[in-house]
Amino acid sequence: MWNKVYAWLDERLGFNGLYKGLLDRPEPEGNWWNTLGSASLFLFVMQGLTGIFLTVYYTPSPDHAYDSIRYIMNDVAFGWMIRGIHHWGASLMVLVVFIHMVRVFVTASFKYPRELTWLVGVGLLLLTVGMGFTGYLLPWHQQAYWATTVGTRIAGSVPFIGDFILKVLRGGPDLSALTLQRFFSAHIWILPGLLAALIGAHLFLIIKHGESHFPDEED
Ligand code: HEM
Repeated sequence: MWNKVYAWLDERLGFNGLYKGLLDRPEPEGNWWNTLGSASLFLFVMQGLTGIFLTVYYTPSPDHAYDSIRYIMNDVAFGWMIRGIHHWGASLMVLVVFIHMVRVFVTASFKYPRELTWLVGVGLLLLTVGMGFTGYLLPWHQQAYWATTVGTRIAGSVPFIGDFILKVLRGGPDLSALTLQRFFSAHIWILPGLLAALIGAHLFLIIKHGESHFPDEED
């Protein structure tokens, strides 16, 4: 019966073609260093899932942000665990993505025909750091407030357009409810959306070109 359902769906959706194109490939001859890209992907998915749980209780307003985090930590069942995973997962993701990039650099895997994979990767690194930067403000405690004050001021020191960047980031000349609202929006919609799109492009290129071989004595 399931075979019939599968055949019926396959005829209309073309599962087999999708399977052949995406998964039916020779097993890559990698080593542990080749697992870091997949580890980055795993962390992205985990941050997404734990983040969705956190938005159930988190409130992005100066009056309630800190209290909502305290509520998650102290009163919500397993809230401390979900927030802990999200908190430490964020640092781990930056670290793992960075080591993945260093591995790609050391094995010269950015060379022809993988230059685009590398360029998309640069976008992924910037977006990952952007996720950390926007997420850091959300608890709205003193440390978050002042770290973001300094971070946005650094961005504002860019010649000529610095003032404009500062105002776009803060939603005005100072940190306010508007800043928290736009950091929240960037953190849960804009940046993850861009990350998902670029990860899609990254994976497409990786499947297209296959895994590079590690440089040996002949290289
Ligand atoms: C969210 C961040 C990222 C994810 C999810 C991701 C995912 C992956 C995956 C699954 C692979 C294949 C397995 C592997 O070789 O590890 C890979 C390969 C690759 N990645 Fe990334 N990556 C990310 C960030 C980056 C960054 C920051 C760069 C460089 C700036 C980069 C450049 C590359 C290149 C050039 C390859 C091909 C390597 C080869 O063929 O040997 N990636 N990535």
